[in-house]
Amino acid sequence: MKIFLIGFMGCGKTTLGTKLAAKLTYEFIDLDKVIEARARTTIAGYFEKFGELKFREFERDTLQRFNYPENIIIATGGGAPCFFDNMEWMNKNGKTIYLSLPPKALASRLKNAKEKRPLIKDLDEDGLIRFITTKLEEREPFYKKAQLIIDGIGLTAEKIVEVLHYQNQLK
Ligand code: S3P
Repeated sequence: MKIFLIGFMGCGKTTLGTKLAAKLTYEFIDLDKVIEARARTTIAGYFEKFGELKFREFERDTLQRFNYPENIIIATGGGAPCFFDNMEWMNKNGKTIYLSLPPKALASRLKNAKEKRPLIKDLDEDGLIRFITTKLEEREPFYKKAQLIIDGIGLTAEKIVEVLHYQNQLK
């Protein structure tokens, strides 16, 4: 099974995804890392050189063409579900899980992790919370198309496994 973890920057897709993959003995990839390897530059570098629109095209191409193994957890970039038909594509090709966190929690996780993230790297504390609040509102309609929505507060990989078992999703 392919499990796509989706949600805002800082919601824990990579951290929880790595642990979840270890628990399920699935493979794990971080889509941003695949993009960086393909483009031979960092995400920040890509934005700087080509701009966001080109990044979104490259992101879609990477997401929809990657040669996924049978069982894998995929941490997607925070914007990936919100462009083109990516959300529909993920829903059709795997299981989607939205790790949901409110703006305040996201801001506190992101305040020391802005550098690699071009959309927020120049924002101060006030700017960050305002950006998150607005962007999350804009993005939630896409995130909420996920097949499973899990509260990200205090979330652990064990809890995700429990939910998946409970829903009979792991066969
Ligand atoms: C983005 C999120 C980032 C990365 C890029 C754009 C976004 O991924 O894809 O900086 O638009 O929210 P993370 O969610 O892993 O930080």
